[in-house]
Amino acid sequence: MRIRKAVFPVAGLGTRFLPATKASAKEILPVVDKPLIQYAVKEAIAAGAEEMVFITSHTKNSIMDHFDRDYELEATLEAKGKEELLKAVKDVLPPGISCVYIRQPEQMGLGHAINCALPAVGDQDFAVILADDLIAGSFQPCMAQMQRVYQEYGTSVLAVQRVPWEETYKYGIVEVEPIGPGLSEIRGIVEKPDPDKAPSNLAVVGRYILTPRIFRLLDKTQPGAGGEIQLTDAIEALMGEQTVLAYEFEGTRYDCGSKFGYLKANVEMGLQHHEIGDEFRSYLKNLTAGWDDDNDTSRTD
Ligand code: UTP
Repeated sequence: MRIRKAVFPVAGLGTRFLPATKASAKEILPVVDKPLIQYAVKEAIAAGAEEMVFITSHTKNSIMDHFDRDYELEATLEAKGKEELLKAVKDVLPPGISCVYIRQPEQMGLGHAINCALPAVGDQDFAVILADDLIAGSFQPCMAQMQRVYQEYGTSVLAVQRVPWEETYKYGIVEVEPIGPGLSEIRGIVEKPDPDKAPSNLAVVGRYILTPRIFRLLDKTQPGAGGEIQLTDAIEALMGEQTVLAYEFEGTRYDCGSKFGYLKANVEMGLQHHEIGDEFRSYLKNLTAGWDDDNDTSRTD
């Protein structure tokens, strides 16, 4: 049993990154030298997926272009003997992996975006990766860890992470019944609760394995907060019919949908980068030497 299709909702407006996201997708923003969406696709492939389904909007052509072959660029790099760069360009989409693009006609929320994937997914279980949640730093990529759980239980699995209690209002928060180390059955889910109303501090992050039943339930989901069709509401309905598991993955998550999380990802992954890591480390050391909190003269709004 293996997940073959991965859905990438990339049609959001990305307002927190305007004006950078005015004419191109947030998911095309690079962390060091690769766009966010490329990390996500690599993670899906590492979990065994073969068909990538992108839910896009009219401003997101850059995503389609990124995963297209660019024969002219490849020929130029080859002619110049730039072997390493040529490999990096060809590796964007390995052989045997196909891409499908579906337009979300209106930005009616994550649940609505996922429902747009029905024609490509059909009646199979499938993965969803939100590329702006970049997960790194573990032996096995997050979706491959989830795939292992799915293989054992054959049911929906959501990635969860403990967050500071004061941040529960930013996430879907689950109420769980533990069934093993890092694994629980979800009993309840609440979208963005205040800390005093949160059933736990286990937050759902941007990785899901879902059964196709979710499409029927999304059809019936009424628009919620902000007029958007919330995936959380459909997952709550799914829990009434099928087991839904919460899996505490190993790895570090960077919320690249926010400026602060995006900068953290660039700094931490820059420090680990094989080409520039050492130079960047000594640059940061020099830059921060002698800094103290009371002497902040560096604001640029
Ligand atoms: P976000 O909640 O981060 O919204 O979406 P956003 O529009 O991307 O960004 P901000 O908040 O305005 O800055 C979570 C995920 O759902 C996708 C986004 O692309 C992102 O991957 N999404 C959201 C859609 O594909 N369609 C939608 O209608 C809404």
